[in-house]
Amino acid sequence: MHIFGIPIFPDQASTFARDVDALYFFILAVTAAFALVVAVAVIYFGIRYHKTHDGEIGARIEGNLPLELLWSVIPTVIAMVMFGWGASVFFHLRRPPDEAMHIYAVSKQWMWKFQHLEGQREINELHIPAGRPIKVTISSEDVLHSLYFPSFRTKIDAIPGRYTELWFEATTPGRYHIFCAEYCGTNHSGMIGTVIVMPPNEYQAWLAGGGMEGSLAQRGAKLFTDLACVTCHLDNAQGRGPSLKDIVGTTIETQAGDKVVVDEAYLRESILNSQAKVVKGFQPLMPTFQGLISEENLVALIEHVKSMSPKATTAAPAAPPAPTTPAPAGEKK
Ligand code: CUA
Repeated sequence: MHIFGIPIFPDQASTFARDVDALYFFILAVTAAFALVVAVAVIYFGIRYHKTHDGEIGARIEGNLPLELLWSVIPTVIAMVMFGWGASVFFHLRRPPDEAMHIYAVSKQWMWKFQHLEGQREINELHIPAGRPIKVTISSEDVLHSLYFPSFRTKIDAIPGRYTELWFEATTPGRYHIFCAEYCGTNHSGMIGTVIVMPPNEYQAWLAGGGMEGSLAQRGAKLFTDLACVTCHLDNAQGRGPSLKDIVGTTIETQAGDKVVVDEAYLRESILNSQAKVVKGFQPLMPTFQGLISEENLVALIEHVKSMSPKATTAAPAAPPAPTTPAPAGEKK
């Protein structure tokens, strides 16, 4: 939205931008209306009931039940509308669709690094296709940052030591801002970038133009060998570590007897803090990789492990797994 050529409001360039704006303007309008009512009443009563002569005493008022009910019920109803409407928009924003395309973002002082599953890596630029839901998994190499796409009306903090995610579906090809929305040091204001939304065919052409080093999972496979993970995590039950085949999405039992779902967060913890949740029946032999592996390599490794669980990851990447029900009789696992 431009006024006199000055951009005062970001473009609406995602599927939920209109929903977020509608709610925002509704709350703005309610706030403005109440501010107006209060201001007018203050001015009107100030004039109407001002002191005209000395010794004047105001009339004593004991209360008014209908009036009190009115000013309790109306604001309650309005607040509940805001709550219900806000919650519905919020849940929509926070739940990536299962079929979303997956991208990793790694933040550090002061840049955004994006990794596509196909292998492309970008810094402060993100190429994506229009008309397709995109899920971004975010990590930080140092401090708190916040990945903000104003035109898509979505934002999430990057938190050191864990993964967060957001999703959006861009509607209109073009170039839009990426901001860091969490003060993160001297060059916080310079931690910006551009998201380039392309028509799907152009995006395919862009993808085909890079990726010399193979896909993210292939890079992870190489790391899996280089870091000697492969010597313990064999494909069969003979290894010193559990087999990672088809492990993603399953529930494992730890030595402490806890049940843990194998997802990106668990894989991450098990690599960086390998003694935290050792699978029952295995010795805590695995060295910790804290400080020895970058966030970028970590996501490559995790993608490699996920690629060993094709069933779990093609249907719904990183989705909460279905409750583990025993396979129906006669069905081969
Ligand atoms: Cu990163 Cu502010």
